Amino acid sequence: MTTPSKSFDKYAAYAKSVQSPREDARFLRLVYRNLNNAEPTILREDFCGTYALCCEWAKLDDQKRAVGLDIDPEPLAYGTENYLSQLNDWQQARVTTYERDVLVRSTIKTDMICAFNFSYFCFHSRETLLKYFKACRQSLRPNGIFMVDTFGGPQCGEPSMDTKRLPGLTYYFEQERFDPINNTTRFSIHFKPKGGRIRKRAFTYDWRMWSIPEIRDTMLDAGFKDVEVYWEGTARDGRGSGRFTRKTRGESCQVWVAYVAGRI
Ligand SMILES: C[S@@+](CC[C@H](N)C(=O)[O-])C[C@H]1O[C@@H](n2cnc3c(N)ncnc32)[C@H](O)[C@@H]1O
Repeated sequence: MTTPSKSFDKYAAYAKSVQSPREDARFLRLVYRNLNNAEPTILREDFCGTYALCCEWAKLDDQKRAVGLDIDPEPLAYGTENYLSQLNDWQQARVTTYERDVLVRSTIKTDMICAFNFSYFCFHSRETLLKYFKACRQSLRPNGIFMVDTFGGPQCGEPSMDTKRLPGLTYYFEQERFDPINNTTRFSIHFKPKGGRIRKRAFTYDWRMWSIPEIRDTMLDAGFKDVEVYWEGTARDGRGSGRFTRKTRGESCQVWVAYVAGRI
């Protein structure tokens, strides 16, 4: 395994704390099957980072192909060494990555494009968001689906600290500030490995919090035919169940996570 810092592997800590690539790949496939009554083949993962999701997609079956785009060579190299290397030769042959800005229109046409873990929140203006959504629509095959995740709720309007204790690691997701005039915010991820010192701001994000109606309207303006929202169910303990279903109305809660799918 590659360790960017000899003593601490921030990508492994990130994966353990926030990523579920296997579940994401299955969820994407389920959405495509449900909306199109057909099987998707090619997935494009935007802002793919270490492209763990691309690798899980290629593992779903022998026809699946994945393309990952990221502007930063460091996480791409990490993914090649730590995730791609775990696949067999035939799976590896079906995963391709490009060091590229997602705003640049791609000539590769895919069945699905996803931008997960809120990465497109890095676009602060509607003009840029629209440019990105248009570029995605133009790169989709017939019946193509573009999916993003988003989150919000009253708790996101003020500084907060979310703490998660995991085996060997504590994860902190800190909202450092929020500007209600522009809906811009700064989130930082800190890690405290067991027995080690805290790694402050291992990842930092200057985001604009886009609401579901803003995302839906921008997708429609970008030419998507219709837009579906997948809302999380509630578990017995009142927390999110981790199961997302298509809904036209949501329920207010302190923090919610949802997926938005644009269909062409
Ligand atoms: C929060 S990470 C997301 C990683 C991965 N998608 C996940 O689910 O965890 C954001 C990634 O977006 C990349 N990125 C930021 N702006 C980009 C752009 N304009 N085009 C392509 N990648 C970009 C960064 O290099 C970083 O790897």
